[in-house]
Amino acid sequence: MKPKILVVYYTQTGQLRQILDSILSGLKDKAEIDFYRVEPVNPFPFPWNALRFFDTMPETVVQLPCEIKPLAPSVKDKNYDLVILGYQPWFLNPSQPTTAFLQSEFVNLLKNKNVITVVGCRNMWLHAQEKVKEYLSAANAQLVGNIVLTDSSPNLVSLLTVIRWAFKGQKEASGLLPAAGVQDADIDNASRFGHIIYKHLNENSLGDLQSELLMQKAVQLRPGLVILEQRGIKNFRYWAKFIREKGGPGDPNRAGRVLLFKNLLLVGIFILSPISALTAKIKQFIKRKSLLRDVEYFKQVQFEKGRM
Ligand SMILES: Cc1cc2nc3c(=O)[nH]c(=O)nc-3n(C[C@H](O)[C@H](O)[C@H](O)COP(=O)(O)O)c2cc1C
Repeated sequence: MKPKILVVYYTQTGQLRQILDSILSGLKDKAEIDFYRVEPVNPFPFPWNALRFFDTMPETVVQLPCEIKPLAPSVKDKNYDLVILGYQPWFLNPSQPTTAFLQSEFVNLLKNKNVITVVGCRNMWLHAQEKVKEYLSAANAQLVGNIVLTDSSPNLVSLLTVIRWAFKGQKEASGLLPAAGVQDADIDNASRFGHIIYKHLNENSLGDLQSELLMQKAVQLRPGLVILEQRGIKNFRYWAKFIREKGGPGDPNRAGRVLLFKNLLLVGIFILSPISALTAKIKQFIKRKSLLRDVEYFKQVQFEKGRM
């Protein structure tokens, strides 16, 4: 009998679906694969306008997500051998549709199941994955693997291209800037993970899956990212609270604070970032040993509350 795999995912531009299709490309004839796309009742706009984009931050950070459409009944009734959860971080947290799924009754699908997370993002995913681990643990699901595909361009370059992509809808290279998002070659090469997943599923050895995925570079992580995310999440929490004091999503009363957040974030990223990169490097040097322990932890699938 072919193993049954359920793929639960959200994607706005289609990038995450491309990644999942590539990973599963070698398994089409070997497994029964069902896809369930999480869909917001009111879809988020793409391309975004700046106010709406930054107005999405507070509720994403405090985990008060959008409403999603119900699950197809056919999915509910099957007994899956493996669930793959594909998602992307928004503002260092799971995207709102992902959080909505993880907070909904549909998460019961994952109860007592082996789960593999697949993340497709710019390059900051650690805090989001810790949140996902926490939801999975609350749902009594067993996280057995994690695959992360990021944009491998330098940090500031990927910021410029993601801005062009989000606000103009242009993913393709232009001028001096490369294409936005995860590089096509990295998406194509993700097919190597499917064979490993199938082998461990078939041999009933999913407990050893993550070690083998890591040997195949399923997660690549620089120690500096840990510091940047720790700083970023503190700021986002502060701003989320400050903005929400003036109202809920889209409330004109909070637009001033949202725009202030936007401007300060852009100043922080483009003007202060050489300074913060330098202080992060110094911190990295001083705290080298504990950072290396953090990197090891974040590459694994175990969950320890309060690590980020
Ligand atoms: C509102 C918003 C916030 C985002 N925040 C992050 C982030 O914190 N870290 C990151 O690496 N990428 C971030 N991204 C990029 C996404 O993770 C993702 O790569 C991109 O939106 C394409 O995903 P898709 O499959 O939904 O089209 C953000 C994108 C959006 C739209």
